[in-house]
Amino acid sequence: MEKRKLDDMMPREIVAALDQYIIGQEEAKKMIAVAIRNRVRRKALPEDIKSEVTPKNIIMIGPTGVGKTEIARRIARLASAPFIKVEATKYTEVGYVGRDVESMVRDLMASSLNLVKEELYKTREGEVDHKVEEKLLDLLLPEADKKGKNEISEDVQKTREKFKDMLRRGVFDDKEVEIEQKPQLRISGVGVFPSQEMQADELNNMMSNIGSMFGQNRNQRKKVTIKRAREIIREEELEKLTNNDNVVEEAKKRTEEMGIIFIDEIDKICSKGSHNTQDVSREGVQRDILPIVEGTKVSTKWGVIDTTNILFIAAGAFSMSKPSDLIPELQGRFPLRVELKDLTADDFYRILQEPSNAMVKQYKALLETENVKLEFSDDALKRISALAEEANKRTDNIGARRLHTVMERLLEDISFNADLKRGETVTITKEFVDERLGGIIEDQDLTRYIL
Ligand SMILES: Nc1ncnc2c1ncn2[C@@H]1O[C@H](COP(=O)(O)OP(=O)(O)OP(=O)(O)O)[C@@H](O)[C@H]1O
Ligand SMILES: [Mg+2]
Repeated sequence: MEKRKLDDMMPREIVAALDQYIIGQEEAKKMIAVAIRNRVRRKALPEDIKSEVTPKNIIMIGPTGVGKTEIARRIARLASAPFIKVEATKYTEVGYVGRDVESMVRDLMASSLNLVKEELYKTREGEVDHKVEEKLLDLLLPEADKKGKNEISEDVQKTREKFKDMLRRGVFDDKEVEIEQKPQLRISGVGVFPSQEMQADELNNMMSNIGSMFGQNRNQRKKVTIKRAREIIREEELEKLTNNDNVVEEAKKRTEEMGIIFIDEIDKICSKGSHNTQDVSREGVQRDILPIVEGTKVSTKWGVIDTTNILFIAAGAFSMSKPSDLIPELQGRFPLRVELKDLTADDFYRILQEPSNAMVKQYKALLETENVKLEFSDDALKRISALAEEANKRTDNIGARRLHTVMERLLEDISFNADLKRGETVTITKEFVDERLGGIIEDQDLTRYIL
């Protein structure tokens, strides 16, 4: 998928990009694309109207394995907007042990920061890479370093050039050098940080301060390979490059204006429909989420983040519960609902071969590495799809995940014996599919265990 800015993409284009990976589910794709676009539109509004228009959050409802998480995952890849995916079940009510819901905003900001840094790096890639290379050369040729750049003899200069070339070709990748690494010392901004990570961070700070009192805060020398050294130095240079307020400001702005938080498994924090003693705390989590979705200020080590315009996309199977089992206030904050459909044999037929990462393509590529050419006849693919649908009907409906188990079973022997088939073409026919899988599908118990 081409990396384009999500902001520049029209809803139609966002859907088209998703189409490369997700078959069907048109409605869900459209709704998300519109929600994303609406925020760009909102940005163009005059201030007074702008503050009135808030994002319309979405709940995606659908059975397991039909593409809910997959849609989110693909949006994330597409997005140059800050995006994170979290599991609702990971959070606990404030005051209990565990992650509090505000941490999702901090995570979003962290991801935004990475994004902005990476972009900044791209624009100054050449400059950073040049610096990194020079430093690596200094490590490889320490003599030149000591004398100072002006006094380098012609010989050394020549060696340096030669080394540079070798460095670029990766000749030194595994060579070990000693580098100085700065101790991890983060200076946090002002403010109160109630969350656990923040406390950990603070603690870290204190520890290194104490360390410095006892003179332990010197740079540490350690031995690493050139490959690793390149990463470390690049990281340091990047840090230097981006260590200014503009980057944080930009990241903050993007988090607030373009951030997307995908909350998976939202149905699992419904209190009704579940019959255990955690009900109270689940409702607590919902109550904690409420202000964040509504718009609140969350303090982070980068400053205060306003969540008013962050887009929330929640998803859940809702098999044991309904969206109406969420606390009413939260229901109201997710006005857009879209249902994802059960996948049929026709969908499976397309899912097997069409997506850019389609299963058929994957298996072909895997066997190709062993010099075995794998082919599927069209009626074989149709048969596989029909069998997958059948298995979903007879036992549990696990959606497209069924295709994985079916394909594994189907290709088991071929995968195992690939070495005996080098140079051959193996064609999977309808008869082969029937032979391998027909008996299993007939027997419900077998299906339950094997597929
Ligand atoms: N519509 C689809 N098109 C292409 N692939 C799909 C589709 N639906 C599901 N898949 C594939 O099936 C797998 C499972 O899908 P996904 O993770 O999106 O399930 P889900 O809807 O989030 O289910 P759950 O409720 O269990 O989390 C993914 O690896 C994905 O590649
Ligand atoms: Mg999922």
